[in-house]
Order: sequence, then structure tokens, then C-alpha cells
Amino acid sequence: MTKLTPLHGKRILLIIGGGIAAYKTLELIRRLADKGVRVRAIMTKAAHEFVTPLSVSSLTGEKVYTDLFDLTDEAEMGHIQLSRDADLLLVAPATADLMARMVAGMANDLATTALLATDKPVMVAPAMNVRMWEHKSTQRNIAQLTQDGVGFIGPDDGDMACGEFGPGRLSETPDIIAALENHFNTSTGPLAGRHILVTSGPTHEPIDPVRYLANRSSGKQGHAIAGSLASLGAQVTLVAGPTAQPNPSGVTVVPVETARQMLAACQTALPADGVICAAAVADWRVAQDAEQKMKKGPDGVPALALTENPDILATISQLPQGQRPALVVGFAAETEKVIEHATAKLARKKCDWLVANDVSPESGVMGGDMNTVHVLSATGRDDWPQLSKTEVADRLARKVADYFTS
Ligand code: CTP
Repeated sequence: MTKLTPLHGKRILLIIGGGIAAYKTLELIRRLADKGVRVRAIMTKAAHEFVTPLSVSSLTGEKVYTDLFDLTDEAEMGHIQLSRDADLLLVAPATADLMARMVAGMANDLATTALLATDKPVMVAPAMNVRMWEHKSTQRNIAQLTQDGVGFIGPDDGDMACGEFGPGRLSETPDIIAALENHFNTSTGPLAGRHILVTSGPTHEPIDPVRYLANRSSGKQGHAIAGSLASLGAQVTLVAGPTAQPNPSGVTVVPVETARQMLAACQTALPADGVICAAAVADWRVAQDAEQKMKKGPDGVPALALTENPDILATISQLPQGQRPALVVGFAAETEKVIEHATAKLARKKCDWLVANDVSPESGVMGGDMNTVHVLSATGRDDWPQLSKTEVADRLARKVADYFTS
């Protein structure tokens, strides 16, 4: 099954503002082109100080627009047409000055004129010195632009070119692309307008500051499910235990460590239309984790007293009507009697579907790329063939979409 590429064929009008981060838009244009996006660029006068129109036009393969009063452009394409002929306008880097002019509705150069003339969605990726970002004027402008429906991407925290540290760095290219994909996903696709919560990965339960209890879950299956749901247009919150998996694009990731943190993050993320609990949550934690590293001593080997963790799936499944998501899906990781144990688990956890898989060492599922699952529900059982975890994710996401659209 081929993945949907929400950016493919889209037309983006990139407005490059005059900031040191402008050079990063060259990489952004390349990556967007890789995704099949047609980029046209407008550069502000100040942007010319940081990148050349020649570099930008070589990468976009198009003329770069800079001057409002360029008559040739008016003959070829008017500035109104330029802004209307795009699916989205992206301002990157959005400087404090450019945002202020957007708020004021100014049209004193081609960039602001295009922004004022458009009826298309506008997203801004700000970049500026941290003091400028935190200044009351800028904060006022951000609030106004948000109210006007402008989408914000970043900025990130970090070291700045000016030697300071804090919010104000232009978001990284993959994050800008993920935000754009998310924008296009959530406006189309069978799951558009649906919020789905996904848990993934293991949990780590501390023993002392340097040791923890964990399991072999890689997070591959849960992360793939989050990505597949997002590619069908869902707004996805992924509450993820510690994993090495990259964040799936277009997904809001909430990183957690322990089962209790995972439950709290899920409760914060609700309400949701659907929940998919794919995490391998530790059933137990150490009753009293040590504040300092436990040391070897004359008293011999320490005994760990364990206590039970909250059951996230069962808690969500048993929320009162009105708060309970319409569709609650659990996983069952079994090492023997897969169907028998999973059937009992479906009844015990009171979820709607249970995706059962064999995680015995011979199956190679834990940490591996393949999975063989059985989807159980009150109406029966569906045995899927062995598939890659990505294929399982796509198939499950389509089943979720069918549930919400039928
Ligand atoms: N689960 C959960 N919270 C827990 C334990 C499990 O949300 N504290 C969820 C998992 O995400 C999964 C389902 O419950 O969707 C079943 O997990 P599994 O580990 O197979 O079952 P357990 O409830 O732990 O039961 P057992 O270990 O006895 O098989």
C-alpha cells in the first residue's frame, strides 16, 4: 500500500523574510521539492542581505519575485494572482517587522501585499532574537495573528546567532514540513476533524536515579499507527514512552517515561474520538524508588517490592459516557495461547477492539519489523496475514477511518 503524501502536488508561496535564518529556506525548498511541492518565492528587500535571488530561483526552478512595481511581473502574473495561485502562503523566516506589518495590514512591499491580497491559509515560521520574541509588541502581534487564523510553526528554543539562548530560532526543516503536512492532512482525508490518541513504546519505571525496569518494546508499531492515522487526516496525539523512533510527521508527540506519566498525559490529551493503546506499559513499578543510587553493602542483595501501575487502557475504556472516546482499541502482547488470552483481555479491559499479537521470542515481533495480528471485537475475529508493522498500521488506520465514516 502506498503512503499518502499530503504535500504532493501542492503549491506553496514562500515569503522569505530578512533574517539570518533565511539561508535555511534553501534547504526547506529542496525538501519541499522532494515532496512534490511546487514552490514560488517572494523575497523581502532585507532577505537579499542573507540569500541571493539566484540561489532561491535555482532551487525553485522559478523566477523569484521581489518588487511590487515590476511591470514585467504584472504582465506575466499580477501580485494578486501570485497569492491566489497557491494552496498556502508560508512566511519563513517571519521577522518581528514582517509580523508587525501583517498585523497592521500594510502593503508596502510585494511580500505584505501578497499576504494582504490572499484568501489562502497563511502559516508563519518566526525567527528573531529572544528579546524581540518576548517583547510585548511581538507577543501582542502573535496573539492578533493567531486570532486572524495565521498558523504558527515554532519558533524553537536554542542558541541564537546573536549569542543568546531561548525561543526565537527558526524551526528545523523537518518540523516545518511536518507542520505543513499536518495542515494539509487535517483539512482532507477520511479522518479530518477527528482527534485520535495513541500510546506507544515501553515505560521506564525507576528503581533509583540510574536504574529502571523496562521491557523490549521498540515503539515501532505504535509510532507507525500514529503516522498512518495522521496521513488519513486525523489530528493525532502520540503519548510515547522512551524509544529511539523518530517522531512521525504531522503528529503531536508527548514524551513520557513512566506509566503514571503516560496516564496523566493521556488524561490531559482527552477528549478524543478514538484511542489506540499500543504501548507496552509496565504492569508494575518499584513501590518506593530510592532517591540516591543504591549501593552494594554488607546487607546483601536488595529485594525490590513492586506495586501495580494504573491500567491506562482500562481506565479510558471505563470512562463515563460522554467522556469515553467512541472507539477504544487495545493491544494484547501474548507469548502463548494468544487468542484465548486476548479474548479474556477484551472482556476485562472493556475496549471495543483488541489487536492481539504473539510476542514470544520465536515470533521476532518485539523490536522486529513484521507482525501477525488478530483483531478481536464483540462481533468476531479478523486474522490478518503476516505484514510489516507499517502495513499493519495502515490497515488499522483504514479500519478506524471506516469506523468513523460508515
Ligand atoms: N495497558 C495499559 N496500561 C497498563 C497495562 C496495559 O494501558 N498498565 C494496555 C496496553 O497498552 C495494551 C493492553 O493494555 O493495549 C494490554 O496490554 P498487555 O501488556 O498485553 O496486557 P496486560 O494488561 O499487561 O495483562 P498481562 O500482562 O497480564 O497479559
